[in-house]
Amino acid sequence: MAHNWNPEGWKNFEARHLPHYEDAGELKAAEETLAAYPPLVFAGEARALKAELAGVAEGRGFLLQGGDCAESFAEFHPNNIRDTFRVLLQMAVVLTFASKQPVVKVGRMAGQFAKPRSAPTETKGDVTLPSYFGDNINGIDFDPVARRNDPMRMVKAYSQAAATLNLLRAFAGGGYANLRQVHQWTLDFMGRTPWAEKFGQMADRIGEALDFMEACGVNPQTLPQLEKTSFYTSHEGLLLPYEQALTRQDSLTGDWYATSAHMLWIGDRTRFDGSAHIEFARGIGNPLGMKCGPSLDPDELLRLLDTLNPAREAGRITLISRFGHNKVEEGLPALLRAVKREGHPIVWSCDPMHGNVIKSDSGYKTRPFDRILSEVKSFFAVHRAEGAHAGGIHIEMTGQDVTECVGGAVAITDDTLGDRYHTHCDPRLNAAQSIELAFLLAEMINQESAEHQADAA
Ligand code: PEP
Ligand code: CO
Repeated sequence: MAHNWNPEGWKNFEARHLPHYEDAGELKAAEETLAAYPPLVFAGEARALKAELAGVAEGRGFLLQGGDCAESFAEFHPNNIRDTFRVLLQMAVVLTFASKQPVVKVGRMAGQFAKPRSAPTETKGDVTLPSYFGDNINGIDFDPVARRNDPMRMVKAYSQAAATLNLLRAFAGGGYANLRQVHQWTLDFMGRTPWAEKFGQMADRIGEALDFMEACGVNPQTLPQLEKTSFYTSHEGLLLPYEQALTRQDSLTGDWYATSAHMLWIGDRTRFDGSAHIEFARGIGNPLGMKCGPSLDPDELLRLLDTLNPAREAGRITLISRFGHNKVEEGLPALLRAVKREGHPIVWSCDPMHGNVIKSDSGYKTRPFDRILSEVKSFFAVHRAEGAHAGGIHIEMTGQDVTECVGGAVAITDDTLGDRYHTHCDPRLNAAQSIELAFLLAEMINQESAEHQADAA
């Protein structure tokens, strides 16, 4: 257990990107309400995820983490949850087949509400209001009432997270994740994508593997795991009053755990030495993510790792690299070498989204699919060159047919961005773009393992 730590100790450290609540009484009431609510996850589940991630850190397995940039109250609908879950499963099957290794599935779901923003205020014409910070803090509508920070939004966010997690658990354990069914969805997708020729062969091989298993008598009746899966939740642990209220002492071990999700990550703007977010995270037993961008110096990274994982426990830390397609080759090697030199076990994951945001001519914030792919390729190339395992991907995506990122097989263009641009924050890959990315990733993974085998021979 961490020394000199308690769930509210973060208040003595520098907290950036936290909302100011005008009414302290209102905040206290919301915190007390949450503190009396049941945990959303059990500490044992967080430990199970950590054990799976330990395998990835050791080079066995791949982490697939994805979901909305920001969940919202407006987009809360069972179909949205189902479709995002379905696409993640489809991606996982493709990646499992390619890597022949377990794929750890973690949703940016059931709690991903709070957002750090580049500016504290937003101006339209001659009106300036506080920025939108996520539905658990204030509302997106540009009016003073919506933009007021309201602590009771945390309680609403908890309820939405609880209902979302409940449905995810039901899908994961109740038969929706049936491997044959998941593959059938991918075959249906093959019938629609212009890149079917490119990916059809791998899809057919997955089908053949399933047929072979079936012929050998391996089916959901004989092997129930074929229709169940493990699925975990995660979000940026940004809103510390919320996280603190849901931090509980595990009755089995006596250790503290954040129970708002299985895994929390620390964002690029709050992961500095001496930050309140680092202080909070060091005391919870959950697996932790930390974003690493161009501003992170290798020595600072090592200091942060010593704080967050002094025992060098494998599975504890996932470093999520988000440099941008043209900066990753320059910035990532120094970080990889530093952690290797110091013997820190790390899951290295690639977030190809946050360094690749541009403003389109039509005025929308977007991310070109080509740049996303190019960052992933460079991430793999750097790992190959450094002899490290490229262990995961972290993406902003949705199961819906939105038009937010340009490019992909159906080539969403600048002038069609406005058709179905629904995100509450950053642009997401749509269902087709996400599945395409999984196939392209599978090619890279195949190449990684081919080289591995060649090296071993
Ligand atoms: C995010 O993941 O939504 C985010 C804000 O990322 P970063 O901290 O890497 O900028
Ligand atoms: Co984002």
